[in-house]
Amino acid sequence: MELTLTRPDDWHLHLRDGAALLTTVPDTARTFHRAIIMPNLRPPVTTVEAALAYRKRILDALPSGMSFDPLMTLYLAPEVSPSTIQKAVASANIQGVKLYPRGATTNSDAGVADLHGVMTTLETMAETGLPLLIHGEVTDRSVDIFDREAVFLDKTLDPLIERLPTLRVVLEHITTKDSVDFVKAHPRMGATITVHHLMYERNDMLVGGIRPHLYCLPILKRSSHRNALIEAATSGDSQFFLGTDSAPHAISEKESDCGCAGCYTAPFALELYAEIFEAYSKLERLEAFASHNGPDFYGLPRNTDTVTLIKKESIIPFAKAFGENEVRLLRGGEPVTWSLV
Ligand code: DOR
Ligand code: ZN
Repeated sequence: MELTLTRPDDWHLHLRDGAALLTTVPDTARTFHRAIIMPNLRPPVTTVEAALAYRKRILDALPSGMSFDPLMTLYLAPEVSPSTIQKAVASANIQGVKLYPRGATTNSDAGVADLHGVMTTLETMAETGLPLLIHGEVTDRSVDIFDREAVFLDKTLDPLIERLPTLRVVLEHITTKDSVDFVKAHPRMGATITVHHLMYERNDMLVGGIRPHLYCLPILKRSSHRNALIEAATSGDSQFFLGTDSAPHAISEKESDCGCAGCYTAPFALELYAEIFEAYSKLERLEAFASHNGPDFYGLPRNTDTVTLIKKESIIPFAKAFGENEVRLLRGGEPVTWSLV
């Protein structure tokens, strides 16, 4: 069996910085032509200049002969002013602004504690059409970690959309049926879905031992939510598109007393998505999800070249060099039934 698709893009990706780029950039460029690059570095990417300098470091890490177009984002913080938004809109290389509720995830301590403090910036985004990419979880300690996404929809996102109905929003890495339903009820919105949230549910992480390499944020949920994500991703609905949220951390940072959130999925992401779509007899919908819906949402052209997957088993490497450390791959050491040729 062989499957040829328009070359896909990854609409949510963490590449990290420095020597890590020598691993992450080729691992993504092998499959994807473009990726939306997350700005949660230390310090966070809050200016157009910093985003363009980061883009150059990414391209410097691209092996010759490979092509890749990093689509940059800014990290929403109080210093991201309306004039920064105007500058971002004028730059061909910046495609969005990322909202991290303060304390929600990796390097989010510089994020937004209260949306009212950035309202004029958000108004400028609504006026200019620059998308807001959202990590949709509340951070209130009293809210259970498994409920944080659903509570965010009610407490934060609904009022925001009500106040700024023309704001273009991508709800990133959705993990619940609540989010699927919310996105469908707001036809202007988009949403990304990771491969790990399609493959796993919380039992996989917690039953029979704790598996730190499956710990990510938003955290894996129960199977009924996973089923809703599979249904949305494989439906062909143009609001849902591929975003890996591939988020590598050194093994020592994952296998620790207080392990970091994130799964390194980029190297075999397309092969794993294909496995899921095949398992649900929806392979014919993979191209819309992976290669059409994302560029259509962002108003960018679809890629013109193709990639081909063949039904041939290969073993995902267990780990890879990652700067001076190593990073485990999702499903490392295990077989995947599709191979990219
Ligand atoms: O699992 C995650 N890892 N979720 C996020 O939101 C951030 C990411 C990271 O940067 O490590
Ligand atoms: Zn992310």
